[in-house]
Amino acid sequence: MNQTRIGIVGVGGIAKGVHIPGYQAAIGGKVTALCDISDNALDQGAEICSLDKSQCYTDYLDLIASEDVDAVDICTPNNLHCTIAEEAIRKGKPFSVEKPMGLSHAETARIHDLAQKAGVVGHVCFSWRYRPYIRYMKWLISQGVCGKLYHGYIRCIKDSGLWPGRKLEWRFDKKQAGTGVLGDLASHMYDLTRFITGEEFTGISAQTGIWIKSRQKLDSDDFAEVTTDDWCNALVDMRSGLNVTYQISRCATTIGDSVGIELYGSNGMLRYMNHSGQQTLEICSGEVDMTGQGSHFVVPPARFNASQSQAFINLVQDTDDGLSATLADGVICQKVLDATEKAAASKRWISISEEG
Ligand SMILES: NC(=O)c1ccc[n+]([C@@H]2O[C@H](COP(=O)([O-])OP(=O)(O)OC[C@H]3O[C@@H](n4cnc5c(N)ncnc54)[C@H](O)[C@@H]3O)[C@@H](O)[C@H]2O)c1
Repeated sequence: MNQTRIGIVGVGGIAKGVHIPGYQAAIGGKVTALCDISDNALDQGAEICSLDKSQCYTDYLDLIASEDVDAVDICTPNNLHCTIAEEAIRKGKPFSVEKPMGLSHAETARIHDLAQKAGVVGHVCFSWRYRPYIRYMKWLISQGVCGKLYHGYIRCIKDSGLWPGRKLEWRFDKKQAGTGVLGDLASHMYDLTRFITGEEFTGISAQTGIWIKSRQKLDSDDFAEVTTDDWCNALVDMRSGLNVTYQISRCATTIGDSVGIELYGSNGMLRYMNHSGQQTLEICSGEVDMTGQGSHFVVPPARFNASQSQAFINLVQDTDDGLSATLADGVICQKVLDATEKAAASKRWISISEEG
């Protein structure tokens, strides 16, 4: 079988924890090059991928230009996503980019445009799309289990901003991250809302804030200001009239990691809960069950299993199932993220146009 040779730029937490194991388990592709500005990250990555020094780079231009790389996987801090994607486009190489796709709608729309003109395939890592429960919810909604959707209540809360001694990493710096939990967590929740319901955002009001206002610098004992949000509440309207409430935070004391997705409609409800990896999906559907007595728990059948790394390889090889997040999805998400910031800053309702 044709093997897609993948070069990863940024060998940090997400690359080592998710992307590399994903490619190692995937069919039709393998990691053949790594790039990082940190020698330590490169050494660790090279060991996991069994690569030698000649396959490790400190400059992403060299990795992208390498004849041993067919496709590029971008896992750096957010401010570099679009710059590296542009170089991949220039060299005609397909790329996958971590979320959020970039720092602004304008920046991501430009990359989308360049990729389209060059005929280069792009993928955005909205990893929730590859979770079986999420795919199953999408299918259940398409089968009409909820009927017309009225309300969504979506919550993604963690305590990761409160870990003792957590320092001023790039994600707490607006210049490198753009936003905090907005790009980190809300981006996933916004994308999965569109993915599951097939709906588009039309307007938003929001609040954001920072609880932990300073952190110790990475390279000294000094403290400096945190400039990215660590919580956000938002109310949105979708095209059909479905309204969704979001609660996003990394300062939810002792909670670990908790996600809830509740959808209520004219014919029933779906309630997904994930507490530190323990998942349940409750369903109540049809006239008989409108009392809630017929509510029961379901688990996704095996046909809803998916892998993000496999999906990128499939996209490159033109065998995608059509459920992966494209650059267009990344751009739409970025538009909603921008609107969230604008709504929070202005304390006003912000319309989100579907064009452009
Ligand atoms: N999909 C998800 O659920 C998910 C989860 C975590 C992180 N992410 C995203 O993944 C990206 C990386 O996050 P992370 O948690 O792995 O961060 P990280 O800090 O652990 O890793 C980033 C790596 O990029 C390297 N880097 C920085 N500048 C570079 C450059 N110019 N060239 C090459 N390498 C460079 C750093 O040295 C570091 O090793 C972010 O965009 C983040 O939003 C996504």
